[in-house]
Amino acid sequence: MPKNSQSIFLWSALALLLASCSISEEMRRIQNSKKVQAAQDASRSGYLTGEQIFIRSCNTCHPGGKKGFGPTLENLATDFPDDNQLAAFIRKGKANMPGQPKSILTDIELGNLIGYLRTLNQ
Ligand code: HEC
Repeated sequence: MPKNSQSIFLWSALALLLASCSISEEMRRIQNSKKVQAAQDASRSGYLTGEQIFIRSCNTCHPGGKKGFGPTLENLATDFPDDNQLAAFIRKGKANMPGQPKSILTDIELGNLIGYLRTLNQ
């Protein structure tokens, strides 16, 4: 091979090698971001626990189940002896307390939340 075409060959081989490296790097990056997306979707479709919901939606006004902006939640056993009654109250809200519609809280999550509320005063 003449010297010139030999170096052209070497340069193209190198260019090809670099290109394939960055392509596989890019593929790996895309795959990783797909994995992250899938994990996020899975956690979003999973139901939150009662404690998670409480911290997200209730703790600001009922800190730790105690009196804050809202009243204490230590009297639920007497104020709402029945779970269905408590569920209806939470769905609807009252005065300054926002309700929790199904778009925010699924029935399963509401059940989890009530389970958690029942542990607050034990
Ligand atoms: C913006 C503040 C605020 C948030 C957030 C909030 N509450 Fe309240 N909550 C209140 C207020 C104010 C009252 C009193 C309502 C009234 O009787 O006028 C109240 C009352 C209650 C009562 C009645 C207590 C009793 O013994 O009579 C329960 C139960 C309750 N909240 C549960 C919850 C739960 C569960 C969440 C979360 C999903 C929540 N609250 C979120 C402000 C809030």
